[in-house]
Amino acid sequence: MLSNKKILIGVTGSIAAYKIALLVRLLVKAKATVRVVMTPSATQFVTPLTLATLSKHETLIYYTNEGQTNWTNHVELGAWADVFLIAPCSANTLSKMANGLCDNLLLATYLSAKCPVLFAPAMDLDMYAHGSTLRNIATLQSYGNIIIPATHGELASGLVGEGRMAEPEEIVQIVTQFLSTKPTSILKGKNIIVTAGPTYEAIDPVRFIGNNSSGKMGFALAESLANVGAQVQLITGPTHLITTHPNITTTKIISSDDMYAAATRLYPTCNVAICAAAVADYKPITIATEKIKKEKCLISHIELTQTHDILKWMGENKKNNQILVGFALETNNEVPNAIKKIERKNLDFIVLNSLQNAGAGFKYDTNQITIITKHNKVLNFELKNKKAVANDIVHHLETYFK
Ligand code: CTP
Repeated sequence: MLSNKKILIGVTGSIAAYKIALLVRLLVKAKATVRVVMTPSATQFVTPLTLATLSKHETLIYYTNEGQTNWTNHVELGAWADVFLIAPCSANTLSKMANGLCDNLLLATYLSAKCPVLFAPAMDLDMYAHGSTLRNIATLQSYGNIIIPATHGELASGLVGEGRMAEPEEIVQIVTQFLSTKPTSILKGKNIIVTAGPTYEAIDPVRFIGNNSSGKMGFALAESLANVGAQVQLITGPTHLITTHPNITTTKIISSDDMYAAATRLYPTCNVAICAAAVADYKPITIATEKIKKEKCLISHIELTQTHDILKWMGENKKNNQILVGFALETNNEVPNAIKKIERKNLDFIVLNSLQNAGAGFKYDTNQITIITKHNKVLNFELKNKKAVANDIVHHLETYFK
């Protein structure tokens, strides 16, 4: 049933942790490979030795072992697993996950996990119904994490209500169904270029013309594509973002000329190119070799010339079997402007962001997009976290290969 499936279980400090011994046993019986990571407080409810014995793997709790000679690679753990199941998920861990806290190995693994994450809350009924818990659950769902809802029943406090962790048998059923229905994306193995971030056009050795692009949308797209098995070539301008996904090869560039050089090198062999970068449209004609000193500076303007339009070049050189996707950031007359870009740059579809939508644009973690196809089909999406927006774009892209 679950043979060849690798399941990482995260156990947190809740009385329901004692049921994880049975959960591990059931998963191992179903032929899954199971590894367990615990928070330190979870060890008060079930012993690491019990879970290590049942899972046949060392139970991981700390970053380092006792002698401090080894460290547990949380990135490797998340990359290893087909699914990360956090059960029981206490109110405390739920809140930390929703807010990006990282004060134990389980949370570091969660933050770096590339695999789908399922979480099974367990807590007292009032805690489960509290507004902050509901908000934290909604936040995790907006990250694409899947809840295994708590059930109604008798709780450790003696009260009766909602908050009981789903029973191990039910969790096994949900995980089995999840892993067996997970479709293989048609994008698996496809070679996809994603451009991201801003470009910096040098004026002198210390100054440049740049823009406010954070790169978040492009990185989210690269990760979402990599998660469905695409081989991603991410060409990114200067950002503070990093990705360690094994399916992503990153080329870091500074200027539009660098991005053009990388894109023209990689484009002929790609299946899809998605240009999410905010490439400068103009660059200084000359770059001063030394810092321009203000007392010697007689210039009152900088002479500019147009940069290469990378997306336009891709459109002109597009083969029949290549799909080309652009982004458009508009402030007015959005849809007609975006349609003009589809035609001018020979795109299959364009992702339109309007700066008129609150919460959309460079500085936000959220985005509201409209996808417009070359056949003028207009698809409107709600305001979402950029990761969820990336998933929407990836799902739309999949339809081009069916
Ligand atoms: N783009 C590019 N190279 C450039 C400029 C833009 O690859 N030198 C790409 C962007 O990555 C984006 C799309 O073209 O996918 C739209 O860019 P945008 O600057 O919004 O449109 P332009 O065609 O430059 O038109 P305008 O600035 O007049 O809106």
